[in-house]
Amino acid sequence: MKAYDASMQRVFGGGRWRELKEALLRPARACALLQSADAITLEQKWRERGFEAPLVALEDLGCVVAPEDAPRLPKPHKDLSTGFKDYYPLDLASVLCASALGVRTGETVLDIAAAPGGKSLVLAKALGSRGRLVLNDVSPSRRARLKQVLIDYLPTQKRQRTQVLGQKGAAFGSLMANTFDRVLADVPCSGDRHLLANASELERWTPRRPKLMAGRQVGILSGGLHALKPGGVLVYATCALSPLENDEVVNAAVRRCRRKFPVSVLSGEHAWQGLEGSLVKTAASADVELEETEVGQMVLPDRSAGWGPLYWCVLRKDI
Ligand SMILES: C[S@@+](CC[C@H](N)C(=O)[O-])C[C@H]1O[C@@H](n2cnc3c(N)ncnc32)[C@H](O)[C@@H]1O
Repeated sequence: MKAYDASMQRVFGGGRWRELKEALLRPARACALLQSADAITLEQKWRERGFEAPLVALEDLGCVVAPEDAPRLPKPHKDLSTGFKDYYPLDLASVLCASALGVRTGETVLDIAAAPGGKSLVLAKALGSRGRLVLNDVSPSRRARLKQVLIDYLPTQKRQRTQVLGQKGAAFGSLMANTFDRVLADVPCSGDRHLLANASELERWTPRRPKLMAGRQVGILSGGLHALKPGGVLVYATCALSPLENDEVVNAAVRRCRRKFPVSVLSGEHAWQGLEGSLVKTAASADVELEETEVGQMVLPDRSAGWGPLYWCVLRKDI
């Protein structure tokens, strides 16, 4: 614990780390990513099941938010008329980050580390009625969960345009170079919220851990950048706090890839794929504070009403 605390204090400063740690120890918050139900129907159904908290619909993000102090959301429910579940519980920061990829109807999209598939559902919705979605995850057990999520949430027509693969992310450079309009690389990471809740894991923590993780992340991110078509856009994301797994991974992958093709890190309004006006306003209305880092941004729960932690950075393979 001491080594971990000391490393976080170096990143955030003592006072901020105390507040952030306290927020990370509270239960994770989820919004309802609307699937087979609309906001009004979901609110009615929840009231019938005794969930009285007032809900706010965030239309740009296709989700519904309950107040921070509301009880846990009722479990997703299978709608007998459609055969699909009504909503998927997901951190609002995750919805925002997947939406920031700016997927448009008809595009070819890769989610390179997709399971269990919360962000994939955001991408599938943005893709609409045309286009192709490739969902990859190296873990067989997590891939099985991902396939169940697709069965529970995606209409057959959409599922037919979705392919599930089990490759190592780093392999996409040789497997599918220059193929995708958009890539989401929501990579495996230290997961500080989970780490803080696990005393024995925390005792075993050493500074080597984020460094080892970073090596794997650079490989997956580089694979994703190779897999982009020239002009394509990638979002790199983690739920880790350390810059070693965030900005520094982006910088290392960009250095590596620039030996082969031009890559830009997009910042400011360019990082929002033309959606800045609506998404940033919607995020602010739900108390999300986007904190800028060297090349990306973070949503941290102490300053964002319990949402996060999530880091993301937007990159483009230039023509
Ligand atoms: C942060 S989770 C992804 C969460 C997912 N995007 C979502 O929103 O539900 C990271 C995933 O990466 C997978 N993974 C780990 N190493 C990988 C690799 N080398 N290539 C591809 N996927 C990998 C893990 O099995 C895990 O499911």
